[in-house]
Amino acid sequence: MTDRANGRGEGNRPRRVLVTGGAGFIGSHVAEGYLARGDEVWIVDDLSSGRRENIPDGATFHEMSIGDPALADLCHDVRFDLVNHHAAQIDVRISVADPARDARINIMGLLNLLEAARRSGTRRVVYVSSGGVVYGEPHERPTPEIYPKRPLSPYGVSKLAGEFYLNYYREVHGMDYVALRYSNVYGPRQDPHGEAGVVAIFCNRLLSGEEIHIFGDGEQTRDYVFVKDVVQANLRVSEMSLPETGTLDDRAFNVATGRGTSVNRLADLLEAASGRRTARSFRAARKGELRHSMLDTTRLSARGWSPRYSLKDGLRETFEYIAAHTAAAT
Ligand SMILES: NC(=O)c1ccc[n+]([C@@H]2O[C@H](COP(=O)([O-])OP(=O)(O)OC[C@H]3O[C@@H](n4cnc5c(N)ncnc54)[C@H](O)[C@@H]3O)[C@@H](O)[C@H]2O)c1
Repeated sequence: MTDRANGRGEGNRPRRVLVTGGAGFIGSHVAEGYLARGDEVWIVDDLSSGRRENIPDGATFHEMSIGDPALADLCHDVRFDLVNHHAAQIDVRISVADPARDARINIMGLLNLLEAARRSGTRRVVYVSSGGVVYGEPHERPTPEIYPKRPLSPYGVSKLAGEFYLNYYREVHGMDYVALRYSNVYGPRQDPHGEAGVVAIFCNRLLSGEEIHIFGDGEQTRDYVFVKDVVQANLRVSEMSLPETGTLDDRAFNVATGRGTSVNRLADLLEAASGRRTARSFRAARKGELRHSMLDTTRLSARGWSPRYSLKDGLRETFEYIAAHTAAAT
């Protein structure tokens, strides 16, 4: 078993952690999580979708692309113990319209980062994959990590390719890694474009009193996991012991709740959380959209992580955050 990322840096100094995409929705919460446990945190983000105001106090920020050759200098100078990789092109539709753009960030950018990390002696990489796309349209639900991988978009292909690259770096160069396959993450700071963008869209509509548009019959389901639970999963895998050898799936963990919620039910829950109501209209179903998605989290639960937030509580926190920020902006 390897336990090299044991929570301390060399000579028992604080661990040095690089969070890529740390100005974004999930990455900024994860960076806060590392700071709270006493790590030193650096953030690399090109602010293409992230925001400067999301960057937590106490983190050292570099406005830089993960594809920038200067990343190697930063890694060489700081010698990160741990790299947590959240920066990505995250939009399935952009990846379909422009697969090369997706690959430039999600594959070429990743390789630039991994080479820099390897050369500077980084001990472990936490890589963020997506359980919503790597399995394609799975027939087994909740879907376990070992389910066949059949991504149906360039984004899904690039996320899975990242796992294979990391496995190569582990096998050949001994650089340790864990891949987290998130379901649909929601929470404060999310914007409408991510994989759980529907939560932010519905919150905004409830606040403005505009109609909610539902695509299809609204009975399609997703597995919504709250961002604070996702932070705990990141902290857990950053230091847990891992087997030296194994398959791609031995290093991958679904991060989800194992429960599916329909879009109609989500709208009901948000109405209850917000104390507001608004009209709903049904539109033609989106082409190529998955009908159901729900991930099995038995493996990460067996290693001491399980989601703590109910959907009701998480949605209430999310609505309150969006409401406060909308009020502050007007
Ligand atoms: N939101 C979800 O439900 C979900 C589900 C599965 C996986 N993920 C993954 O989680 C990660 C974070 O997603 P998010 O929802 O927080 O999105 P986000 O857009 O808020 O965060 C991505 C961050 O990466 C930065 N970035 C993009 N390209 C970059 C580049 N070339 N160099 C440096 N920084 C760059 C952006 O500015 C942004 O701050 C991504 O890897 C995404 O694929 C998210």
